[in-house]
Amino acid sequence: MIDDRRDESPESTNGVSRRSFIQTLGLSAAAGALSAPTSAADEATTDAEVPIVGPDAIDVSLRVNGKRLRRRLDPATTLLEALRIEHGLTGPKEICNRGSCGGCSVLVDGALVASCMMLAVDAEDTEVTTIEGIANGDQLDPIQESFIRHDALQCGYCTPGLIVAVRALLDRHPRPNLEQIREGLAGNICRCGTYTNVYNAVLDASGQAPIRDGSVPR
Ligand code: FES
Ligand code: FES
Repeated sequence: MIDDRRDESPESTNGVSRRSFIQTLGLSAAAGALSAPTSAADEATTDAEVPIVGPDAIDVSLRVNGKRLRRRLDPATTLLEALRIEHGLTGPKEICNRGSCGGCSVLVDGALVASCMMLAVDAEDTEVTTIEGIANGDQLDPIQESFIRHDALQCGYCTPGLIVAVRALLDRHPRPNLEQIREGLAGNICRCGTYTNVYNAVLDASGQAPIRDGSVPR
């Protein structure tokens, strides 16, 4: 269920963006590993420069498929968890949950991202597109139609991530060759082994002749 009822303000109520907090925290941790403060003055300076948010829940404002979505979340919530659990967008799948299968693929400002590997707070101030936003209402994207035409799925669990990855690929290469297709989809694993049909779907969706004999030339 998409919640677009809340306000549009992208900033936190304490005036510190979540992104800057996480980034600052990460930089501080790295700096701390290199050199610890050597005096009370150093510590006071460091404290003043590091705004602390959490461990309590924080407001996270996302823009997904053109709609503003807001929730109060644990700062460690991943983008995938926010999409699936908080906002009911279950197209991105949680499979490996460690960035190795591509099942959770989404576009963040047009770039292909494994949403299980990104904090929701880091997606603030971006435009997120999930498989739910690829179609235009009831009008399927040509990639989706091509997947259907070429039977490019079996169980279908990898399919949303693959289609999002193909969208990113065709945005970069409108007529990709097989090497570009393999490279563009290298992060998306299909355990049912539908790769040849997926490649055919990509070729067809990009106006190219599909592979005829069912094998992929090397
Ligand atoms: S669930 Fe995110 S890459 Fe596998
Ligand atoms: S169609 Fe089953 S994992 Fe790809």
